[in-house]
Amino acid sequence: MQDILNQYETVQVNDVKVWFKAGKTTDFPTEGGGCIKYKNKQIAVINFTRRNEWYACQNVCPHKMEMVLSRGMIGSTDEIPKIACPMHKKTFSLTDGSNLNGEDYSIATYPVKVVDGEVFVGFLE
Ligand code: FES
Repeated sequence: MQDILNQYETVQVNDVKVWFKAGKTTDFPTEGGGCIKYKNKQIAVINFTRRNEWYACQNVCPHKMEMVLSRGMIGSTDEIPKIACPMHKKTFSLTDGSNLNGEDYSIATYPVKVVDGEVFVGFLE
């Protein structure tokens, strides 16, 4: 199980080495997410239309290792954009991946940029 989680590490925008084209903006549902695969990673790409923002995070929920976060429910708490896992509603910040339930597991997040209607996710390699 830990092997799966070890594939995911938060990437800061200044550290990005590879901008991977995830698809067109129209490939992703509004107010929701889609899942992409990059190398050995499944990444949830979130089109947070209400905030006019995009986010990306690991698709695997660290609670029970389900590949489901792209189907999570999005919202905001105290201006922090968040995603709730569809399985047991564990909730994570989309900006830094922290666990908003106060538990000790968190998720990795990735930078996203949109250029000319195409969505790119940033990785270290
Ligand atoms: S698997 Fe995500 S909250 Fe349980």
